[in-house]
Amino acid sequence: MTDNLPIGDVARRTGVSSSALRFYESQGMIASTRTQGGQRRYRREVMRRIAFIRIAQHVGLPLQEIKTALSLLPDRRAPREEDWERFSTAWRDRLDERIVILQALRGQLSTCIGCGCLSLKRCPLYNPSDAAARLGTGPRYLLGDVPDDIHQKTNPPSTDALRPPKKRERPRFPLSMTVEN
Ligand code: FES
Repeated sequence: MTDNLPIGDVARRTGVSSSALRFYESQGMIASTRTQGGQRRYRREVMRRIAFIRIAQHVGLPLQEIKTALSLLPDRRAPREEDWERFSTAWRDRLDERIVILQALRGQLSTCIGCGCLSLKRCPLYNPSDAAARLGTGPRYLLGDVPDDIHQKTNPPSTDALRPPKKRERPRFPLSMTVEN
């Protein structure tokens, strides 16, 4: 099997258009050499990089983050297992974060996500008057906030909370009177 593949072969095998391959190359995400006639030639291992780019884009990772992760791989030689290990370690946190968001999305598609639309019946309950906007931008409840955070994060505890609790008041009636039979 040849190791120096023309762009058309790489496009066919990866399912990525030639123009997208040229774009990835212009962004420094993949590399090629040129024949004497100026045609691109890719080493076979480029297909693994392209697979990672496609999957990462598919789950919504920004291009800049994909580029940063790929920059950990050598492009003048075939990446070895330890190179991929470094790559996956750098990416693990981002992927874990994505997994949490996607799981939240799956579980909350039919309920209020705190996005500001106020379009569902439950929005007034979970996000009254778009109070979730005080927590930041975007769908706050998909990003890890919960409705209780609106009060807690936007109203820091007063100094009263730091004082020792007052003595409990003595009940006005004997306790036995409050117990129902
Ligand atoms: S779903 Fe958008 S604010 Fe409730």
